[in-house]
Amino acid sequence: MSFERIAGVLHAEQVSLAEIAKAHGTPLYVYSRAALERHYTAFDEAFAFIDHQVCFAVKANSNIGVLNVLARLGAGFDIVSGGELARVLAAGGNPAKVVFSGLGKTEAEIEQALKVGIACFNVESYAELARIDRVAQRLGVKAPVSLRVNPDVDAQTHPYISTGLKENKFGVPSDTVYDTYQYAASLQGLDVVGIDCHIGSQLTTTQPFVDALDKIIQMIEQLKAQGIHLKHIDIGGGLGVRYNDETPPTPAEYAKSLQPALSKLGLKVYMEPGRAISANAGVLLTTVDLLKPTAHRNFAVIDAAMNDLIRPSLYQAWMNIVPVAAPREQDSKQWDLVGSICETGDFLGKERELSLQEGDVLAVMGAGAYGFVMSSNYNTRPRAAEIMVDGSNMHVVRQRETLQDLWQLESCLPE
Ligand code: LLP
Repeated sequence: MSFERIAGVLHAEQVSLAEIAKAHGTPLYVYSRAALERHYTAFDEAFAFIDHQVCFAVKANSNIGVLNVLARLGAGFDIVSGGELARVLAAGGNPAKVVFSGLGKTEAEIEQALKVGIACFNVESYAELARIDRVAQRLGVKAPVSLRVNPDVDAQTHPYISTGLKENKFGVPSDTVYDTYQYAASLQGLDVVGIDCHIGSQLTTTQPFVDALDKIIQMIEQLKAQGIHLKHIDIGGGLGVRYNDETPPTPAEYAKSLQPALSKLGLKVYMEPGRAISANAGVLLTTVDLLKPTAHRNFAVIDAAMNDLIRPSLYQAWMNIVPVAAPREQDSKQWDLVGSICETGDFLGKERELSLQEGDVLAVMGAGAYGFVMSSNYNTRPRAAEIMVDGSNMHVVRQRETLQDLWQLESCLPE
């Protein structure tokens, strides 16, 4: 494990989180290089039975230090914007291992991606096919495309992060898949190479993945009969992690559940895991600012807030919150851990049994995915710094913002 107690104090690898908080202040994101590497390698090894490419979903954590650690292992990347592509390149990622997902790629983004030679565009509509074709023809190249199909399976996860149902905005609806492929194949600027799906995030069982794969395999067969031969299948991301008492499949179990069908298919396999690689490779450190016990609730005001980590506010996500120092036995109470933002929804945890004092440093576990990337400057709060621990070393991979940074691009009106 990469976040463990040594002599009672929580450490990232060999470095005490108490020391890191002292050196760099809080709120602070801390990542473990070893954990990122272990989680990436778990996917890579689990799919060793077939030609495959693991593409880390950059949206989960786009810090270039994080991307760089993964790029050095040979990771590919799943991007959803020109900005994410630029980050991948800045981090030393190989564009030939990049897949470009998302509903609304602009002409400029398509051109940028074609110029650097990405592996594939995951396309979701006729309009997008036409747009990519237009840009590719203008540049005199062929754009590799895959259609993201909507297999209409229930991922049984939070409605905001479930994406594979027909009422969701994502993917080509299953009843128009064949027509859309025929259309794609008719366009001169496109090279139709794959099929993909992503049914949701934080899935804790393999069954929805297996069901989606079954449906996609039927589509692949049907396409073959219509003369469309694909080279790859992209099975998306979505594998869940343990935040509380969930028991998600390991990457090995996930791979095993898909192995029989994938082996028979014989196509190259892409996958786009985000959370399963980075969530438990990161923590958010925060300090207890003041305690406000009341007759109804005990509030602990902490220096991290919904602007730093929005998952609890947005999805009622439960994230484990533990003291960095050895837990005190005495005076434990139920605390609501709240930020100081003027919103009732501003909390990181509710009714947590903890013994707290002002100045205590706490760690929000599992914060390495959809943490810093979703942070904002709401209430004019500078965003947290980010640190990468590597064995007994630590590196600042993003400096803390200063107040001046926040209004650097703003101006007063002329006199
Ligand atoms: N591929 C596509 C096309 C996606 O839309 C996503 C995530 C992924 C891959 C990576 O999924 P993962 O392996 O991380 O589950 N902010 C939410 C999660 C949103 C997920 C959006 N799409 C949260 O904090 O729970």
